Amino acid sequence: MNYQHVYHAGNFADVAKHVALVHCLDALKRKDSAFFVLDTHSGRGLYDLRSPQALKSGEAELGIHKLIAQGLGDETLAAYFAAIGARAGSRLGRYPGSTALIAAALRPQDRALFVEAMPAEARAAERLIHGEGRMRFEAGDGYAALKAHLPPIERRGFVLIDPPYENVDEWRTMLRAFADAHGRWPGATYMIWYPILGAAQRRSVHKRLQALAIPKMLCADLAIHDDEVEIGLAGSGLVIVNPPFGADAYLLAAYEAIHRRLAPAARGYVEVARLTPERMAQ
Ligand SMILES: C[S@@+](CC[C@H](N)C(=O)[O-])C[C@H]1O[C@@H](n2cnc3c(N)ncnc32)[C@H](O)[C@@H]1O
Repeated sequence: MNYQHVYHAGNFADVAKHVALVHCLDALKRKDSAFFVLDTHSGRGLYDLRSPQALKSGEAELGIHKLIAQGLGDETLAAYFAAIGARAGSRLGRYPGSTALIAAALRPQDRALFVEAMPAEARAAERLIHGEGRMRFEAGDGYAALKAHLPPIERRGFVLIDPPYENVDEWRTMLRAFADAHGRWPGATYMIWYPILGAAQRRSVHKRLQALAIPKMLCADLAIHDDEVEIGLAGSGLVIVNPPFGADAYLLAAYEAIHRRLAPAARGYVEVARLTPERMAQ
């Protein structure tokens, strides 16, 4: 496994994903009853933006640091800026990843399980992340964890599936594991991240998701480069299954606010749309 998230922490795709994550976690906290969160590809939780790797890629400069410089004070993004501790005039030393954001959202009655394949990253998360909820950190396979831990005893919850897509089989593995998890815990909110590399690839991703015939799928795509430019990562995609009420309108506004600030020369696009209806036809 070559992927190291420290090179990409705080880039536009992390921002897009974490804005949606914070929105979904806030929605879960609207009720007092306990919830469970499973983060299948959790990473190390906090990323040092002054590390040689982060400075070498420069991705956070064009992502979170540019957004803070240009967008702090935008009401639409206020909850996200608060969650990452952004302040006017100061740069972020450490960028909170999904593990840190989830941990901060847990109340004493809530639980989370963080699974990370790289043992050193899993250990770092356990050392760095603290919170009021009950948390477990596992070094292992996130797809196996979906099978082993769902459904949980809590009736409500959230599952984040955020793979690095390093090998060609990952899509198949991920879709199968997700469909199986949804079959066993259909009421949870699921959020799956995917890269946008080009128009044809994005259409094919949407089709593969639709083919699962799972209702209530919302896609939220934010591209900061034109699809056909051979640039690597043109955009960040999310599918949210069972999105909280109001997520469609919120994500459209939030992604437009991010796009305005981060897309060079207004390249790219925002699309927030339902991929599947409220109920599938029998
Ligand atoms: C995109 S990063 C995760 C970022 C994190 N979710 C966040 O938002 O801050 C993907 C992570 O998945 C880990 N990983 C790769 N394959 C995995 C697997 N099968 N199970 C669990 N973790 C895996 C990688 O080591 C990497 O830390």
